[in-house]
Amino acid sequence: MRKKAHAFEFQPFSTKQRKLLFWWEPSSPVRDHDMVIADGSIRSGKTIAMLCSFLRWSFAHYKEEDFIIAGKSMGALKRNVVKPMQQILQAWSLPYSYNRSENYITVGGNTYYLFGANNEASQDVLQGLTAAGALADETALFPRSFVDQMIARCSRDGAKVFMNCNPRGPSHWFKKEFIDLAKEKHIYYLHFQLNDNNTLSESVKERYMRMYTGVFFRRYILGEWAQAEGSIYTGFDRHRHVWSQDKLEAYIEANPFSFFTIGVDFGGSGSASVFTLVGFTRNFKKAIVLDEYYDPDNFSADHLKGAWVQKTERWKAMYPRITDAYLDHEMLLIKSFRQATPQIPVRYARKLPIADRISATDMLMATDKLVVMENCKHLIEAFESAVWDARKPDELVRLDNGTVNIDSLDSFEYATEKHYRDLLRI
Ligand SMILES: Nc1ncnc2c1ncn2[C@@H]1O[C@H](COP(=O)(O)OP(=O)(O)O)[C@@H](O)[C@H]1O
Ligand SMILES: [Mg+2]
Repeated sequence: MRKKAHAFEFQPFSTKQRKLLFWWEPSSPVRDHDMVIADGSIRSGKTIAMLCSFLRWSFAHYKEEDFIIAGKSMGALKRNVVKPMQQILQAWSLPYSYNRSENYITVGGNTYYLFGANNEASQDVLQGLTAAGALADETALFPRSFVDQMIARCSRDGAKVFMNCNPRGPSHWFKKEFIDLAKEKHIYYLHFQLNDNNTLSESVKERYMRMYTGVFFRRYILGEWAQAEGSIYTGFDRHRHVWSQDKLEAYIEANPFSFFTIGVDFGGSGSASVFTLVGFTRNFKKAIVLDEYYDPDNFSADHLKGAWVQKTERWKAMYPRITDAYLDHEMLLIKSFRQATPQIPVRYARKLPIADRISATDMLMATDKLVVMENCKHLIEAFESAVWDARKPDELVRLDNGTVNIDSLDSFEYATEKHYRDLLRI
């Protein structure tokens, strides 16, 4: 037997949350709409209020029908929706049964099928359904085909679709074809901001605000469908983030290093090869970029191997606890580096999606978790000159046309990406 979920501890809903809760009630002026969309800031109470609304609506209108509950992936759905759903049902004293292997939940005769929108196979199951309603969490991260299919499946009389999301770029299909056309399409649209969640204390709200800058601040905190344009690292400031040796030594006395990593980006044609050494201080207080090797000329494998041996010998002498080196996915070079320096564990870099790396780096800067030593000139310049790729307004990618040093950024990210969670405590 699995442990029973804790009951959800409800606090009073905000005015905006109540609009979302009650929009379909007989007394509501918008009860005849077929669809509701809630967008806006992260943590503004969209998911919880939408879930309560959707469940109450489905119980009030249907006894033995099928429903769709979808998230961007099954993992995200379970974390963000299924878990609170179990807690909410518990709080309402409604018995339910959760079939974990087939991904559905039954409550009072109704069946709620769970979908990860990123899963090709789930589309087949979706196609076979005739549903009375759907709830989509973080919808702007779904493939468009899934959303269209989901809406098409809601064909029972009186069916309604509930969708929420955080903002992305202004020309994203969900913004243009659902939110901008809400009136024409008879969609009830609600925009949430941090203040629409009464359960966040002022200090928690302030902490969120401090965590983001630039386009991330506009999207996640202000809730705007903001374009990513111009500089990427607007939070980077030489006076704050770049340290001298004296400053480092003073800091390290009270906050010693705990271990070190190296990130390596191999130059292809026209780009540089970069190694970046990062030190992590005790309890992940800070990530400090200590040194870089930057080779614009490239690129014979032997030359690079020689540079690697030389550089890492020097680094090892100063900082013996180098626990990992993360390399770009070039198998032959990984092999040759492993041979050359058996005392340093050489691994494949994770290569998280670029938007996640940028967002995490932005947060590291905003929360003063990141320090760059003044000798790391190329990385400093790379932070200052990196710009968004305006040709791809819907994706968060940086311009890569040879004018900006992407290689230093990649190399830095390979060294740090494994520890984003530890550093940011997210
Ligand atoms: N009425 C409420 N009572 C208790 N907790 C709430 C309430 N509304 C929101 N919360 C909590 O606030 C946090 C953020 O809410 P959530 O709905 O997940 O925001 P969003 O979907 O906008 O990111 C969650 O931890 C959620 O449980
Ligand atoms: Mg949410």
